[in-house]
Amino acid sequence: MTTEPCTYVIFGATGNLARLKLMPGFYHLELENKLPDGCRIVAVGRRGWDRATWLAEVKAMLRERVPDDLDDSVFARFAERLDYHRGDMDDPACYQSLAEVLQGQPQFSKNIAFYLAISPGDFGNVIEALSRVGLLSEDDGWRRVIIEKPFGYDLESAQALQKRLSRYLSEDQIYRIDHYLGKGMVQNVLVFRFANVMLEPLWNRNYIDHIQITHAEDLGIGSRGEYYDSAGALRDMLQSHLLQLLTLVAMEPPVSMDAESLRDEKVKVLKSIRPIPKSAVHAHTFRGQYARGNIGGQKVPGYLEEANIPADSSTETYAAIKLLIDNWRWRGVPFYLRTGKRMAKGQSSIAICFRHPPLQFFRDTHVHCMTPNWVLMGIQPDECIRIEMTVKEPGLEMRTRTTSLDASFRHPDERRVDAYEDLLLDVMKGDRSLFLRFDEVEYAWRIVDPILQTWAIERDYIATYSAGSWGPDDAKRLFEKEGQYWRSSLLPECR
Ligand code: BG6
Repeated sequence: MTTEPCTYVIFGATGNLARLKLMPGFYHLELENKLPDGCRIVAVGRRGWDRATWLAEVKAMLRERVPDDLDDSVFARFAERLDYHRGDMDDPACYQSLAEVLQGQPQFSKNIAFYLAISPGDFGNVIEALSRVGLLSEDDGWRRVIIEKPFGYDLESAQALQKRLSRYLSEDQIYRIDHYLGKGMVQNVLVFRFANVMLEPLWNRNYIDHIQITHAEDLGIGSRGEYYDSAGALRDMLQSHLLQLLTLVAMEPPVSMDAESLRDEKVKVLKSIRPIPKSAVHAHTFRGQYARGNIGGQKVPGYLEEANIPADSSTETYAAIKLLIDNWRWRGVPFYLRTGKRMAKGQSSIAICFRHPPLQFFRDTHVHCMTPNWVLMGIQPDECIRIEMTVKEPGLEMRTRTTSLDASFRHPDERRVDAYEDLLLDVMKGDRSLFLRFDEVEYAWRIVDPILQTWAIERDYIATYSAGSWGPDDAKRLFEKEGQYWRSSLLPECR
């Protein structure tokens, strides 16, 4: 797919997402010579800045975020592409003047990507306003709109948002970002599964005991108290990022790697997940909230002491669920998903636990450690794939130990490519494989909606955990079998 020249228009260009991810992402693409000639980036902002002030601002953002990669000659090249459009997105005049600039000046490509780095509550209004001034019409080039999760607050609001957007945009024009799909290791899940012949025959209910997907953060909620308290861990992480990881681990091989084939298979997985009726929510889920604790030797406050959090909040900062997939491949294999803020460590991983061999010959004799095989995929900060096997220890005695075959993804000296770099480039290529189709969003809400509704009523069942721990101890009650446990370490461990 070729990267086509285009004008990126960023609403919310002075906000956090643009500062932390988008401008550094574009800059890295410039550094790697990936931006096509004719690619320009127009920031739309309320502040009374001119272009020179904006350039100084961007340089400051980059100095803060990517100091080691900042190079004067690359920045000079990058700066050539940048423009600032002063305007208030609530004011119709902003769109009129934007249209005049984009349509009237030859340096701007007729292909336009609108990046809405703004609050989801404003998506509908901005799209309507763009359409009113003709900026969404594709007569002279393509128009694409990029939006970020959360796509709605629940199934109903997601459908309402979709209804509004689809009045002005076709599905092909909407690029819904789940930035997890831009992470190198997440894409590697597909390569690992479908470019190697060794594992795929084992990748099913006959050999796999259960699967765990973890996203743990040692950070708290920072300055996002207001948003977070209305969302909670289930909406914020699990409904989107973790369910996406699950689809990649569980999907059937697609017909081809094109966007529609890939997304068709992901949707099939989501559709096969057994719904959790409200009466079973307690047995299949667990939630917690962090209390004061210690992280890296520093005392940190509890959730209820954070800024903008009501003292009686029952919002979960930890969520764990057990899901079953009712299809031929996975029937009977539990998938355990968990996520939490202020946990012991920042770590995202997928852990696949295989069954024990049918006869365990080495179980009773001189056994040092007998563990099942695991496949461990570290998504961040370690980007690794490890396969744990049992081998004999050297020496005269018949003793076994676990060893780990390491297929690590990235050499420590290689630059870590940020998810957004890939995604920004894909928009210019028109490659939608790493973006969500609306039916994926819809089915994901169908899975979590009954849980959210039950949790909203049963406020008393929330457990607490100390900041800096691996979450509430009782969350292990979700496991079905004796001997199952949350796999937190990606190094061989003996239980
Ligand atoms: C976001 C959530 O979508 O993902 C945040 O809103 C979370 O709460 C973040 O911290 C995690 O992303 P990453 O890339 O830092 O793992």
